[in-house]
Amino acid sequence: MVVIRKAGDSVKIKISLQGTGYMGRKILLDKIGVEKIRYYDAYRREGGYRSVEKALKMTPGEIVDEVKKSGLRGRGGAGFPTGMKWSFLAKPEGIPRYLVVNADESEPGTFKDRYLMEFIPHLLIEGMIVSSFALGSNRSYIYIRGEYSWIVDILEQAIAEAKNNGFLGKNIAGSGFDCEIYVQRGAGAYICGEETALLESLEGKRGNPRIKPPFPAVKGLWDCPTVVNNVETIAAVVPIINEGGDEYAKIGVGKSTGTKLISACGNIKKPGVFEIDMTISVEEFIYSDEYCGGIANGKRLKACIPGGSSVPILPANLLLKTAKGDTRIMNYESLSDGGFATGSMMGSGGFIVLDEDQCVVKHTYTLARFYRHESCGQCSPCREGTGWMEKLLLRLDKGLGKISDIDLLWDIQRKIEGNTICPLGDAAAWPVAAAIRHFRDEFEWHVLNPDECTRRNYGLAHYAEALPAVTA
Ligand SMILES: Cc1cc2nc3c(=O)[nH]c(=O)nc-3n(C[C@H](O)[C@H](O)[C@H](O)COP(=O)(O)O)c2cc1C
Ligand code: SF4
Repeated sequence: MVVIRKAGDSVKIKISLQGTGYMGRKILLDKIGVEKIRYYDAYRREGGYRSVEKALKMTPGEIVDEVKKSGLRGRGGAGFPTGMKWSFLAKPEGIPRYLVVNADESEPGTFKDRYLMEFIPHLLIEGMIVSSFALGSNRSYIYIRGEYSWIVDILEQAIAEAKNNGFLGKNIAGSGFDCEIYVQRGAGAYICGEETALLESLEGKRGNPRIKPPFPAVKGLWDCPTVVNNVETIAAVVPIINEGGDEYAKIGVGKSTGTKLISACGNIKKPGVFEIDMTISVEEFIYSDEYCGGIANGKRLKACIPGGSSVPILPANLLLKTAKGDTRIMNYESLSDGGFATGSMMGSGGFIVLDEDQCVVKHTYTLARFYRHESCGQCSPCREGTGWMEKLLLRLDKGLGKISDIDLLWDIQRKIEGNTICPLGDAAAWPVAAAIRHFRDEFEWHVLNPDECTRRNYGLAHYAEALPAVTA
């Protein structure tokens, strides 16, 4: 059953669990099962590049208007309205403008862009041609995570095919519009996903974030006006132009229009990438056979990080329902309902599920280690604070910590948040804050049971016991 709601409709939740055949609405991955869809011929046969033909008969302003009408929000993490971002692009005479696609995707738990680029690369290329035309970019870039080496080959082949068929290069489809797309590999640094660090790296420098303002829309790549957008954001431009912004906006609810790719992993039966329309409940997403298939190995749900490693972890009770008792929905507004006190964020859609056996302290330590390693070191609170948090968490995890260490951790994360050049500092602080906020007694258990820390599985079953009964 497909449930499509108009933006602004009240949210009435239809819980369709296993076996009821909920199919959702797919507009990005709908063709993914078509044989050889990775290649131009099959992609074109399935209606590929229609949006380019249509867009080239529109004015750039009309395309931007369609994207605005669609309500599309950036899929890279912050959820900023794409049409608005595009309209901020400065247009001084005689200076090139650039579109840069952010394919760095290094946030732990997030692997949706990889899937899209690997299996349906022409969707990204098509979206880039339309977006480049709308933004006036004659040279556009894909900045891709270095570890995705095989996808570089896939993208370059798709670009060559598009060019051979007249959709890239000079005078595309007789429109007078010229466009080339280049793929640039990063060297495997998470910080290069931050848009200004990415631009530095693309210019051949060390990937250090820039101080904003100026924003890339005014001074971006080689000091020229630049739009940086996520892979999924740009791919979504294709159905928006094909069907119109208003039609796109009918999918989803409120300010969460369209579909969202979610990469789900952790202790679930069916890890993978799913395209959801943003009206389904978190409960349905976890337990329905259509999506994650429930918790693996007969275990119970303990917690979840719903939007990539940097967003706050939620214990199961606050994940399935908001603090007000409303059903939690897989969309921007509902996942953040309650703020950081009782909510989290949609983020980049990296959905990491923890079962009752998982140790939140150990898990938080693992994340802290990652952020310490990835800090570029420009700001003291991030450079020093991430290292201190890692050390304290390791001590607590090993049963060598003190109760005062928990308070110290809290204090350090507070002093990082909001005090750094780029949001990596916040991204390092939020997981620690949320873990202490929701699982403080698990941290205390580690202090009070030092011997057990080193020899048992650390899951504190009382979190699972406190959950409402869930039927799969
Ligand atoms: C440390 C850090 C890493 C990031 N990594 C990515 C990434 O891998 N992909 C991405 O699209 N955005 C990433 N972002 C967000 C980008 O800075 C930027 O907001 C985004 O690419 C804009 O695209 P959107 O508006 O389409 O979401 C990251 C931000 C930070 C602070
Ligand atoms: S917050 Fe961290 S990663 Fe970002 S600029 Fe400062 S030191 Fe570098």
